[in-house]
Amino acid sequence: MDIPAPVLELANLSKTYRGGVAAVRDVSLSVRAGEVYGFLGPNGAGKSTTIRMLIGLIAPTSGEARLFGSDLRSDPSVLRRVGSLVDGGAFYPFLSGRRNLEVLAKTHGAGADRIDMLLEQVGLAKDSGRKVKGYSTGMRQRLGVAAALLNDPEIVILDEPVNGLDVAGIQEMRALIRSLAVEHGKTVFLSSHLLHEVQQVCDRVAIISKGAIVRESTIADLLRQDDGLRVEALIVRATRAEAPEVVRRLVGVGAELFRLVPEQRNLEEVFLSITQEEPGDA
Ligand SMILES: Nc1ncnc2c1ncn2[C@@H]1O[C@H](COP(=O)(O)OP(=O)(O)O)[C@@H](O)[C@H]1O
Ligand SMILES: [Mg+2]
Repeated sequence: MDIPAPVLELANLSKTYRGGVAAVRDVSLSVRAGEVYGFLGPNGAGKSTTIRMLIGLIAPTSGEARLFGSDLRSDPSVLRRVGSLVDGGAFYPFLSGRRNLEVLAKTHGAGADRIDMLLEQVGLAKDSGRKVKGYSTGMRQRLGVAAALLNDPEIVILDEPVNGLDVAGIQEMRALIRSLAVEHGKTVFLSSHLLHEVQQVCDRVAIISKGAIVRESTIADLLRQDDGLRVEALIVRATRAEAPEVVRRLVGVGAELFRLVPEQRNLEEVFLSITQEEPGDA
């Protein structure tokens, strides 16, 4: 009967930076084992600030961020179960990709035996001997993911993993992220300002705007809740369940109906309507 404890839990987490910027306000959410969870919001919404608190880089002003039930700052041992990529990762430009991972493995005291496999997994095997200063943004980003996976973590936390990637790079990263969950059983928490990305990759999503969560939902529910009906060239804002009524009324006013198709809104539209409907009192 036990419900497993969430792998990641934020409870009323808030951060006000010196100078008074309330970057994160009362954020609560939880992520279960095996989920790919998206943290979605526009630039400046507070995503990186939240992730920095989560992995213990900065202290919250109030509230708690827990991984495996522990606060990293009071129980750093949980770091062994966590991998993260923040700000694209920091690498020595004058060392090769492989050498950078070797240095990191030494610091971790783990992962040296996984380097070949990880370079293969992130698609850097053939470029692993090149100096990082010659890497493209996408290659650095993938090296960052390899670095995040060195200690074979149970949860992988990625801050804007597709930032700066081209279309091909985005597709590769998307496949890589899905495979982390589906093939390797890892939990993934990722942030993005790209609605399309989150829609493609995540099971559940929290939308953050001006430091606060405005919606938490499965992708499917988010897209289902407010769909439309395409009636030939006319779009009617109605739910699927309202279809018979729409048909009755249109036929009642003499319209000749040839086609009626339920239409899914994309996340972009959902996101805009959600962030516009909240009061602008940030
Ligand atoms: N070190 C800092 N000092 C002061 N303000 C900051 C700092 N880092 C971020 N901010 C501010 O906090 C807000 C949230 O930023 P951030 O967490 O980076 O958002 P996101 O990652 O969603 O783009 C922004 O208004 C940003 O300018
Ligand atoms: Mg950010």
